Amino acid sequence: MNDRLKQLFASRFGDAADVRVYTAPGRVNLIGEHTDCHGGYVLPCPISFGIRGAARMRKDSLVRLYSENFPSPEPVAFSLEDLTYRKEHGWANYPKGVLWAFRNHKHVPSSGFDAFFWGDLPAGAGLSSSAALEVLTGVILKDLFGFSLERPEACTLAKLGQEAENHFMGVQSGIMDQCAIALGTPEHALFLDCGTLDYRQIPVPLQEHVLFILDSRKSRELVTSEYNRRREECAQALGELQRWGSWSALGEISPEEFAPHAPHLSDPLLRRRARHVILENRRTLEAAEALETGDLKSFGKLMNRSHLSLQFDYEVSCRELDCLAETCWQHSACLGARMTGAGFGGCVVALVQKDGASAFEEDIRREYARHMERECRIYRVSIPGGARRLS
Ligand code: GLA
Repeated sequence: MNDRLKQLFASRFGDAADVRVYTAPGRVNLIGEHTDCHGGYVLPCPISFGIRGAARMRKDSLVRLYSENFPSPEPVAFSLEDLTYRKEHGWANYPKGVLWAFRNHKHVPSSGFDAFFWGDLPAGAGLSSSAALEVLTGVILKDLFGFSLERPEACTLAKLGQEAENHFMGVQSGIMDQCAIALGTPEHALFLDCGTLDYRQIPVPLQEHVLFILDSRKSRELVTSEYNRRREECAQALGELQRWGSWSALGEISPEEFAPHAPHLSDPLLRRRARHVILENRRTLEAAEALETGDLKSFGKLMNRSHLSLQFDYEVSCRELDCLAETCWQHSACLGARMTGAGFGGCVVALVQKDGASAFEEDIRREYARHMERECRIYRVSIPGGARRLS
């Protein structure tokens, strides 16, 4: 693959002398959904689909970017001095945004560069292709120009990616995706406290089990507006709860602290939103412990409860995701399944016993097509390392 990527780079940019090759995985969140924006816990892992990049420094200040996934006659080109968002630059605004974020922190490249990208992450499925591209760009910049970043470097790369996403692309999101991609470790899930960025890596035992990603192929149109609306509702709930305690984020409130005040919130909707975040946080803590002790049965049950909470309390699921999750729950080989990512379409993640995995795959495919009159896509994923240089 690395040689193929170099060939593709050469066909765009003349030759492949001195080209370096990099990779960044996508991510799937096992549990801890819609908690990162509220200073809560998450438990994502990198997946065996992602983006590769090949890059080389230039002698002038031009930046040229080409993606095999968005073919165009010419690469997107701009000067290092002109890091403004341009609609016509499409996907290339993500790497440009990372350059912009680096510059904000006084990391200014000494020259321009050429970069070629190629990815096999299913597009629009909520598996973090944008965060993968951001962190990949960060790794390329750091390596090509030898920037020394604040330690731990992977956390800084994640924060720079999030800065590009939030303030250059104008998309609100938490820190989970970039951290999962920057900090990923083979065969481990990342248990991350999004309030402090403290983390620990927990082994995921996939000898006897299979991690499935089931793509509903429902497009995620509502996701941006509803994501922002949920954040506002949670901010309002927090504001009301602060009458009874000095919490600065919903993620700091325990279920026991929440219970006596919940009935006094001004609107049942606010109660449900806050309840999701607060209970999901506790579930994520319990899930991390279950994973650490190898209790995958309990882990699976927590996944199922997480889905129900996203369906009824946070209300970010949809018919397609519910159909997939419910079909999984009925299957004897499935330990647990839930929608993953922001919601309103995208994917379900399922943990399945290896010896029933083929039958599971067949059954889900058939039942989803029967109920939803559309095909899903099913991927068996392994857990690779995080974003890094390959050669
Ligand atoms: C999106 C965001 C993440 C996180 C999830 C929901 O993927 O990018 O930061 O908020 O939604 O858990």
